[in-house]
Amino acid sequence: MLQTVDPRTLQAEAFRADVLAGLARRQKALPSRWLYDDRGCELFEAITKLEEYYPTRAETAILRMHAAEIADFCGKEAVLLEYGAGAAFKTEILLGALATPRLYVPIDIAGNFLQRTAARIRRRFARLQIRPLAADFTADFEIPSGVPLTPRIGFFPGSTIGNLDEAETLAFLSRMRAHVGPQGKALIGVDLKKDIPTLLAAYDDKKGVTAAFNLNLLARVNCELRGTFALDRYAHEARWNDAESAVEMHLVSLCRQRAAVAGRSFAFAAGETIHTESSRKYSADGFADFARRGGWKIGAMWTDRRFGVFGMCAA
Ligand SMILES: C[S@@+](CC[C@H](N)C(=O)[O-])C[C@H]1O[C@@H](n2cnc3c(N)ncnc32)[C@H](O)[C@@H]1O
Repeated sequence: MLQTVDPRTLQAEAFRADVLAGLARRQKALPSRWLYDDRGCELFEAITKLEEYYPTRAETAILRMHAAEIADFCGKEAVLLEYGAGAAFKTEILLGALATPRLYVPIDIAGNFLQRTAARIRRRFARLQIRPLAADFTADFEIPSGVPLTPRIGFFPGSTIGNLDEAETLAFLSRMRAHVGPQGKALIGVDLKKDIPTLLAAYDDKKGVTAAFNLNLLARVNCELRGTFALDRYAHEARWNDAESAVEMHLVSLCRQRAAVAGRSFAFAAGETIHTESSRKYSADGFADFARRGGWKIGAMWTDRRFGVFGMCAA
């Protein structure tokens, strides 16, 4: 008899495997997708409202200012596939501007938060069909059958694309290209290069919300993987990596110590870090080059010079 495995079990296994492998590396590292449990999603929403965190305000203003032009670029009866939808507040601007959108497919690894977002969008757009999909966009997955093929628009706001490394970015762009098909289009929000103090402040706010977001990953490990991290013995750090053109988030061990995860013990030297997220910053030309290599033609770019929303067509 064919047995189906609960997706939550698969996700729990993937989390365990990533944490055990990541803590065994010379530079300890945990994939940023695991920052987003229920608490992590709430903390990220709090980050978007911080004075220092300009990307959400910048992208919101761009979407509002150019809503009609962006809607025109997308065309009528769009099927919107949104990658890493989160709370999808900015999506309301796009859905409100689109001419008779046909279907909205918010995709996110954080399944509970995704259901809450879908319920709110349903209340706001009563006539829109919505099919939330819990999936990891860094791995191959199918868009459910029954989602019309044309015209599909891939929407990837929030500069979440900056969390992917070069190989993951190219793989993601090709995957989205396959999802939307040969007539498809995409809108991607990209954070642009700027002065380093502004970038670092956006990931290390005065109120300590980003620190709480980062440390929540250890709390998640403690809760879901029988971890023994003493949260007060690790600190948040944001640093600029010039070679990668990225702000990195790390958790710094404040002393020499050990922590166990799922029965395995890991040693930390004082000052040793766990790398938890990179947020790459692009030049407009640099991102356009990636887009081309991933199978896309740039059709338009809306920008305030801090942030860019790229309108792309399948090449
Ligand atoms: C930076 S937040 C952006 C949220 C929202 N799109 C915005 O613009 O404010 C990243 C979102 O992507 C989701 N996410 C991160 N990595 C993911 C992955 N590998 N697969 C699916 N969703 C992911 C997170 O759960 C979170 O909701």
